[in-house]
Amino acid sequence: MCGIIGYVGNNNSVPYIIDGLKRLEYRGYDSAGISILQGHELVTVRAVGKVAELEKATLLANPKGNTGIGHTRWATHGKPSEENSHPHTDCTGDIVVVHNGIIENYLTLRDKLESRGHRFKSETDTEVIAHLIEENLLHVRAENDQDRLLKAVQKTNKEIAGAYAYGVLWARTPGLLIGVKNQSPMVVGLGKDENFLASDVPAFLKHTNKVLFLEDGEIALLHVDGVTVLDKDGKEKEVKPVKISWDQQTAEKGGFAHFMLKEIYDQPQAIEDTLRTARADFGKILGLDTTGIRELRNIHIIACGTAYHAGLVGKYYIEQLAGIPVSVDLASEYKYRAIPPLPHTLAVAISQSGETADTIGAIKKAKELGFRTLAICNVLGSTLTRTCDGTFFTHCGPEISVASTKAFTSQITSVYALALFLGKANGNLSQAAFDKAYKGLLALSKAMSEAVKLEYEVRHLTRKIYKADRFIFLGRNVNFPIALEGALKLKEVSYRSAEGFAAGEIKHGPISIIDKGTPVFMIMPHDSLFEKMLSACQECRARGAFVVVITTKNGVKQAKDVADKVITVPQTDDLLQPIIDVVPLQFLAYWIAKRLGCDIDQPRNLAKSVTVE
Ligand code: F6R
Repeated sequence: MCGIIGYVGNNNSVPYIIDGLKRLEYRGYDSAGISILQGHELVTVRAVGKVAELEKATLLANPKGNTGIGHTRWATHGKPSEENSHPHTDCTGDIVVVHNGIIENYLTLRDKLESRGHRFKSETDTEVIAHLIEENLLHVRAENDQDRLLKAVQKTNKEIAGAYAYGVLWARTPGLLIGVKNQSPMVVGLGKDENFLASDVPAFLKHTNKVLFLEDGEIALLHVDGVTVLDKDGKEKEVKPVKISWDQQTAEKGGFAHFMLKEIYDQPQAIEDTLRTARADFGKILGLDTTGIRELRNIHIIACGTAYHAGLVGKYYIEQLAGIPVSVDLASEYKYRAIPPLPHTLAVAISQSGETADTIGAIKKAKELGFRTLAICNVLGSTLTRTCDGTFFTHCGPEISVASTKAFTSQITSVYALALFLGKANGNLSQAAFDKAYKGLLALSKAMSEAVKLEYEVRHLTRKIYKADRFIFLGRNVNFPIALEGALKLKEVSYRSAEGFAAGEIKHGPISIIDKGTPVFMIMPHDSLFEKMLSACQECRARGAFVVVITTKNGVKQAKDVADKVITVPQTDDLLQPIIDVVPLQFLAYWIAKRLGCDIDQPRNLAKSVTVE
């Protein structure tokens, strides 16, 4: 999830672009760059780090021009470095491209272009766009340079696959900026004698609130005196701007009141982005050949907090799909307990930030014990990814809210992809079983889109219960970790007392804290343990609990007999169900915290990244 801003107008574009990039930093912040058309020459400045570093470098280079583009990066292909920062150029340096998204077939395209003599300077997928446009310019005919560039861009779009939004400048067409949108966001801001292209409205809201939201497959041609939009068939489309009434802060949150809420709603897209690499060859990532993968005898999952809960779900996945025994440790515990140095052990560290000191310490210990190490991480170039033998990136975009939501569901999805890979590689899964499971995985994002529609229902429910002193969450099997996560989320943002338990355990002690009116959340999709969960509902109800059941369609009828409230979540494969079941609990935490007036995005005493032991 990177940030793009482009400007065409009568003023020097540099201050507009630097300011726009600062306002887009919430979308990514590992490196940034700017390209300005100075006459017929493109001047590019790039810097590693936050936009402030780029600003310093730009002041020194002092480029000036009325047309320019900028980019703040959240690395997906290639580590954060100056060479990998955008804008990227073709061989001639006359074409520059900034891009947000993933070009799935970039390796094939890169090979093809290299065989035609193109020289690549970065490890990114983006650079293929610049070279493809260069190549296609040689093969298209048009009356003028603008039409030639447009045709080359249209031809390029037919060749690239994936989700992308990009902006292009060509030294031969000053005063023209082209924007393309396909499954990644791209908007146009219409000003007076100036127009803007951006990934998101806050980039230019200071200058105009008249916005065109581009649709997938559309191309926008921006000039100083107007914007032309072509639909997916290349036909000119009537331009209908929308007037945005958001203030700057609301705009950064995509119109949501808090980042936490925005990130809950980001989940269908986040899952889709995670799934783009779900068929990854983990053997290659880890540097293990087929024999090395087949020989794996133990897996140690290490993580903290929410990521630890993702690891707990992962244990069920790997043991069921790959038949390999898994232990899951809190990183802070793993480091200080005696771990037998058994051969053929893989240690998997799960972390959103990749900077959590406990997790890094634990994975270092795993390395010392001679284990192969894998990071499942959201931040390319982070310390964890540099420490491990290989990394699978969750690709869910920057998570700003301290309370983790989209990273959690992307982490579980990633471990599922790992479990499927291992199961197929070691023969535990037949081809048919693999295909069936993979099909289920691909349907996940759609189910997630349905799940986020539950906000209103959950919000309504919280009116009744938000003043309760304590909340209980119960689940079994793959949904036991979801009970833990539901409780953690609620504690974090609302400061209420909340506990999660394995439902079968309550009779061994925890039931004593259930009192008249205690809200008890039962996470119980209609699966093989449903009947047992029904008994747990009855036990809680008998103690006066206010029972809320989260179940799938087939469980609703029976759940109604034992619950005060039933929430129906979309159905997926049983193993994938926790990824969906957690969504109403995320809304629950959010709405209770909101009703209690808590600081939702920055809860007291907590930090997004815990870099101390
Ligand atoms: C909870 C939360 C924390 C983190 C934990 C690990 O919402 O965000 O519990 O999950 O601090 O952080 P990462 O994943 O960055 O290692």
